[in-house]
Amino acid sequence: MKKITVLAGDGVGPEVTSEALKVLQAVDRKYAIGFVFEHELIGACAIDATGDPLPAATVERCQKSDAVLLGAVGHPRFDNNPAAKVRPEQGLLKIRKALGLYANIRPIKSYEALYSTSPLKESLIAGVDFVVFRELTGGIYFGEKGRSNNGSEAFDLCTYSVEEVERIARLAFAAAQDRRKRLTLVDKANVLETSRLWRDVVSKTSKDFPDVQLDSMFVDNAAMKIVLQPAFFDVILTENMFGDILTDEASAITGSIGMLPSSSVGSRVALFEPIHGSFPEGAGKGIANPMAAILSAAMMLEHLGYPKAAQEVQAAVELALKKGVATGEIIKSNPASTSEVGDFIASNI
Ligand code: IPM
Ligand code: MG
Repeated sequence: MKKITVLAGDGVGPEVTSEALKVLQAVDRKYAIGFVFEHELIGACAIDATGDPLPAATVERCQKSDAVLLGAVGHPRFDNNPAAKVRPEQGLLKIRKALGLYANIRPIKSYEALYSTSPLKESLIAGVDFVVFRELTGGIYFGEKGRSNNGSEAFDLCTYSVEEVERIARLAFAAAQDRRKRLTLVDKANVLETSRLWRDVVSKTSKDFPDVQLDSMFVDNAAMKIVLQPAFFDVILTENMFGDILTDEASAITGSIGMLPSSSVGSRVALFEPIHGSFPEGAGKGIANPMAAILSAAMMLEHLGYPKAAQEVQAAVELALKKGVATGEIIKSNPASTSEVGDFIASNI
């Protein structure tokens, strides 16, 4: 039996998550994993129901489960209100912290069937396959923040410790060893002290991984390189906010942000979520791409020890793309709905 806590969240979160569950149920029929799905609240829907973006019951259930599957978090009524006391995103940041999820792993690859929909030239994106290790529980996201008394100044502190850098560096180096053995540390060491600490720690850690070629790149240059020569990258290791920004940018390589899954690991329980947001304008219309959620479920299968099932889900997604069973941001004429994409993928397990 595998207990999965499902945090569908806000906006299109519930729609894309229910397609991921459909696919996991098809996997369960074939592989007899014995999934038990238990739903809890996070984000704006949790604020509406309880006043808290991350109720204690959600954290408790996540801690008792084998894995967590998350949809999306966020609602525009909070974005446009700078005075809001609680925000949906606090739920997401708190669950990452509460579960000790310090490494967010975001694979970026191009699919042949999508070469023509990417805004980038096919010659640049063909065969691109890299993975970003984004630090997830430190840096400017979690540092002290505030306003001066008269409100005329604000600050967000960015701090990192040796331990915080070293533990994710080890994961990234180990991943590079199983891939093309190249690790690029992305930072801003020409300006930031935290980046200089990252350089120190990562270069020391690299001694334990002599077969991996380490290089470092300033984040501004990396942002350019991701669109000019994305095939250069194998494993990117970076801090929290740089990783957030660069992975949205990198989604343009795949052709749609609705394609990119992620896993977040650290302590015992791992969490799996698409990298896209709650896309409130698309909620309830059946137009959201469920593939990122479904591919996140595949990453969960891999993590739980079912690599064959994971590969089967990935192959079914690729088949859907090949056959043109995809949502409107990918297929312009006669697109499929969110649930049609899920049905097609589930029926090919
Ligand atoms: C992401 C998102 C979140 C982040 C937001 C919703 C807080 O953009 O997971 O990339 O910035 O981490
Ligand atoms: Mg983001």
